[in-house]
This record gives sequence, C-alpha cells and structure tokens, in this order.
Amino acid sequence: MRTTVCYTMAVVASEMNLYQARQRVEDLRAQIRYHDYRYYVLDSPEISDAEYDKLMRELRGLEAQFPQLITPDSPTQRVGGEPVEAFGVTEHRTPLLSLANAFNYEELKAWYRRAVTILEIESFPLVCEPKIDGLAVALVYEDGRFVQGATRGDGFRGENVTENLRTIRSIPMRLLGKKMPSRFEVRGEVYMSRVAFERLNEERTDQGQPCFANPRNAAAGSVRQLDSRITAQRSLDIWVYQLGWADGPYPPTHWETLHWLQDMGFRVNPEIGRYERLEDVERHYRQWADRRHDLEYEIDGLVVKADPFHYYERLGVVGREPRWAIAYKFPPIQATTKLLSIEINVGRTGSLNPYAVLEPVQVGGVTISKATLHNEEDIRRKDVRAGDTVIVQRAGDVIPQVVGPVVSKRTGREKDFVMPDRCPVCGTDVERPEGEVMRYCPNPACPAQAFRWLTHFVSRGAMDIEGLGESWCYVLLEQGLVRDPSDIYSLTREQLVELERMGEKSAENLLSAIEVSKGRPLARLIFALGIRHVGSEMAAILARQFGSIDALARASEDELAAIPTVGPRIAESVHQYFRDASNGRVIEKLRRAGVRMAEEVTPAPAEGPLAGLTFVITGTLASMPRSKAEEYVRQLGGSASDSVTKKTNHLVVGESPGSKLQKAQRYGTNVLSEQEFLELLRRHGAM
Ligand code: IVH
Repeated sequence: MRTTVCYTMAVVASEMNLYQARQRVEDLRAQIRYHDYRYYVLDSPEISDAEYDKLMRELRGLEAQFPQLITPDSPTQRVGGEPVEAFGVTEHRTPLLSLANAFNYEELKAWYRRAVTILEIESFPLVCEPKIDGLAVALVYEDGRFVQGATRGDGFRGENVTENLRTIRSIPMRLLGKKMPSRFEVRGEVYMSRVAFERLNEERTDQGQPCFANPRNAAAGSVRQLDSRITAQRSLDIWVYQLGWADGPYPPTHWETLHWLQDMGFRVNPEIGRYERLEDVERHYRQWADRRHDLEYEIDGLVVKADPFHYYERLGVVGREPRWAIAYKFPPIQATTKLLSIEINVGRTGSLNPYAVLEPVQVGGVTISKATLHNEEDIRRKDVRAGDTVIVQRAGDVIPQVVGPVVSKRTGREKDFVMPDRCPVCGTDVERPEGEVMRYCPNPACPAQAFRWLTHFVSRGAMDIEGLGESWCYVLLEQGLVRDPSDIYSLTREQLVELERMGEKSAENLLSAIEVSKGRPLARLIFALGIRHVGSEMAAILARQFGSIDALARASEDELAAIPTVGPRIAESVHQYFRDASNGRVIEKLRRAGVRMAEEVTPAPAEGPLAGLTFVITGTLASMPRSKAEEYVRQLGGSASDSVTKKTNHLVVGESPGSKLQKAQRYGTNVLSEQEFLELLRRHGAM
C-alpha cells in the first residue's frame, strides 16, 4: 500500500500549500529514519531499495519546492553512517560527496540540460564508469607511499582504517613512476566479488555464523573490522575512480586522470568510456543494463561525470551532490512477493536446507519462484513465515534470496516454520550436531544425498564434468549405473549409448569430459568429495597444506586443528570423513581410475609491486627475449598475457610491433617503451 500512497502524494505535491508540505515532509522523514534504522542498525529492512528510493525522491522533490523546509538533520542532508570512534576519526581534507540519481533517460537528459545551461555551452564530453556496489574509501599517498586510508563516514569525517586497507592487495603500497604530486588523495570503492561473497557465506553457514545479505555488506563489514587479521582473510578488491585532492599538478580532465592513476599502479576499472554525446552514454548504459551480471562484482548503475575539470567549479555542488556527476541507476533487482510455503531440500552432505516457494515475481528481468533461506537460524533471525509478503533479491548468478518480511503487511494468519524431525526424502530421524545450525539426515544411502553428492561432484567448481547435468545424474542413479561418484569413471561407451536420448556423439563427448576431469587439481577433488564444512576455499587450504589425499587422510584431528583457518568442527568433520569405510572405498576406486590424488607444485599467489597488473609484450625487445621479460613481470607479482584486452594495464612495445599497439591505443592502455619497461624493472629491483 505504501507505494500507492507515495505516488498519489507525489502527484498532488504541486498543489500543496506550505502547511501541507511541512506535514508530509515530516512524515516522510520519520519513515525514512525508521527504514534507515531497520537497514543500517538492525540489518533487517522492511521495504525494498526501490521503495526506499521513492520516499527519498518525494522528500527531495518537496524540499526543492519548499526550500524553507530543509533542515540540517533531514535525511537528504546526510551522506553515510556516523564514524565509529574505536577506529580513530580522520577529517577529510575535502568532503566525500554523494551522487544524485537518474532512473531513466529523461532524468539523465534533464541533468545534462541543466549543466549545459549553467555552463552556457552547447555540450561537453562525458565519462561513464560502472557504479560499484561497495564501500567508498579515501587513500592518501605521500611521496608515492600509502600513508592513510579512511572510510567515507559522514562525508566530512571517516574512520581511519589504514591497517585494514593495507591487507587489500590491489591497493598499492608504493606507486609506480617518479613524477607525481608530493601528497594526494584518491578515492575508490572497496568491494567483494560475487564468488568470494558466496564462499564467505558458505563458510559462515558451515560455522554457524549469520550470512551477509549482499556483497556490499560483506565488504563493508570486512573493512570495518577492529582486527585487521580478519580483514586480511576476506577477498577484497578495489576500483579507484576519482582524484580527491593533490598537492601538485595533475591532468586537466577526468579521463586523463583515470589513465594517469592507472599508470601509477592503481586499479582503474577497464569498463569505462568517454563520449562526446549523451546518446552514446545512453547506448553504453543499455549495454551494461543487460550485461551487468557478466561482471564478477555487483554494480547498480553507471556514474556519468563531466570530463573537463575546469567545469567543475562553475557547476558546483547542491547539498552534498555535485552537479558535474550523476548516478544513472539500473532497474532494481529486488521485489516483494508472497511467500507461499517453506520446503526442504536434502543437500549433498545430508543437510536439510530450507527454501522458500514464492508467488512468481519478476526481478531484474527474470521470473523467480524459489529462493534460498539458508538454515533454521536464518529463518528465525529474519522471522519469515509462510504467508508473509517478503522482499526478494537476485544478483546475477547468486541464488535468489529472501531478504526479510514486510512486517507491516502481516494479517496474523502467517505460519511459523518448524524444521522436521525426519528426513523428508527417506524418513530417517535427523541429527543436529551440538553447536551447529544445520540438521542432517544421517543415512548415507538416502537417495537425495546420493543425487546431491553426484551433482556436486561433477559441478563446475568441483570436477567440472561437462555434459553431466542434473538430469543425467538422475538417470545414471536410477539405472543403477552409478551409486557413488567414483562409479562415473567406470562408465563405458556401451552403457551410455543404451540410455534414452544419449546419442553416440554425446556419449563420446561425455567420456572424454570424464577423462579430462581425472587431472583436476587436488583442491577440486577435495571439494568434490563433499566433506561436511569443506567449501572450495577450505579445500584449497587443505590441498596446499597436505599436498595429497593420502596425507590428508592420515592427518590427526589435532594436526588439522593446528592449521590457522581450520576450526575444531572442520577438523573433526575431515577426520571423521576419512575414518568412514565407505568413503575409503570411494577414494580407492577414484585412485584406481587414475584420478589425480596429489598436488603438483603450485606457484605462490601474486604478491609484489606489480600485483594485480597485466602486461602484454609485443614486438622484439633488444635487451632480452620476450619470455625473459614476462618472467620478470611475474617475479614482481604481475601477470603477463599474450593478447591485449580492456583489462590489460601496460603494453610494452619492442621493435616492429603489430596490431597489438593499435588495439592498446583504442582501449587507452598505457604504452611503455622498452627503456621505460627496463627502468620499471630496475626500480623494483628485478634487474
Ligand atoms: S564518484 C561526487 N564513481 O557511489 C563523486 N562513485 O552515490 C562521488 N561509487 O560514495 C564519487 N562507483 O561510494 C564515483 N565509479 C564511481 C563509483 C562511485 C561507486 C559510489 C561511491 C559514492 C557513491 C555515491
């Protein structure tokens, strides 16, 4: 109902008198404060972002119409959260501003027209950047070294999180090049990739900790940790998008500044564009609205900025929002719908996973009818009940989630959820290990478990057997050809071609995919085994630590628990797994089939002054063969690639370069001569 009310009110706003406007403004502020509290403090929002935006927009509209109603404490006048004293507070030399929003092309055009009118010109060039959904930080550099990092806080004062930011590898501690202002500040967004976010939540679920609602919260929660060791364990990254201030010269345009920052070693997003006309910005926006989920991280729109800095002062700032930039938002990926019932799915480790059956709803262009609810605790914490109106969200590949109920829409007929005492598939009494949030079906022969284990084993992050989707897994189990994953490796061509809908060609393809999977890295195999509490990240840690399945199987519980990231629950679970005779048989069969059981030596993860930077070397170098040059890059933590893409940071050009140079120029990639490259190597002590 709330939406309808806002809409009607917005329509009649123009006919309001000051008295009515004041009443409405006060109402809106009270609502917004309430929702801020639900969102930021309780982490339990009642309305979707889109609904919240609507309230804000109506308030802004009224304040624009009746400026006498603006008060310093209006929600429109604040930028972010209050800084937490425990970190130490940092004054920003120039405030970290916020952005006005445009939700459609009309609004974008209106913004541009206003700017053009103020500047008294026909048009001006624009830079488009992805709007990263993370946490804004300001990084100060002195003589090329990182000296201080702070959160935005309220825009004027932020939290000093320098030590935590030092743990993020893509934040350079020292910059490349000699000519730069003696002291300057860059701004950027710290974020967590979707994959890292999912892994983190997976592990938190396994460890009985509450999940983060989205990658942004996870990133913010990780940076605002009082113990920087915790931050260090989280996979965080940064995109740098702005120069804050500088004591010394810098380029005259934003576009050139971004490249200048990139050359110093900052991670600048490759998906940026510069356009002369607003129509081209619109085209860029449409492309990204469709492709946003192709990115490894979440973006919620574009930021469109005027390119030449000399316009910024004249355009000025309204409230906290500069007129020289605007956030061009994508359609929301949240919606509200009815939760019809809560059902149970039996997972690969026998865990009983609750999920929501929803009245189908369109979210971000896709219809969803199911969403995960993680576990019992999660349901209790969010207090969702069958019959509730709930907020759901989806973001790319992430499984749709139920964010929470809209409490104000309750009728009193909603039903509390009770976890079953028996496995809904095989009827065995379920167990709940002490201190765990999950309940498990302990029956190893439970058909649901065999199916889940098999589909997990062949899945992408595990043994990655292409062509073996859920329906084939089901058929193989049903036909008795496979009982556990190791049986996959004894399937024959004859058996496969007999299956309905399996042609000769697909049988061949499947067999070769199975063959290929035998050589997967040890970490994948460990993950594929489906050991309770061992997600992909934990599997990688175990693989690195033990180097082979046999060494892992021999490890005592104490040895396992002695590894820093392995808690007692994981240690016990891994140890138990290898003590179970049926698991032992599966492993023996895998070994006999020729599946790789030990790790080959893996290169150390990238670290060093060039970490996060990609180099391409083209043409003939006078001083060394290309392979040698590439080795130097790797030694310093960078990566070397063969082809120039938008992601390439530096192209090193030798004698008679080919088309790569043109491509690099098109992408605006930094080009280094051989001399400059050698200088860079020397500076970092590689030569
Ligand atoms: S420019 C006035 N560029 O969006 C300039 N901000 O709503 C403001 N953000 O606080 C910053 N990606 O946290 C800028 N490419 C980008 C951005 C970006 C994400 C965030 C940033 C800012 C918020 C403003």
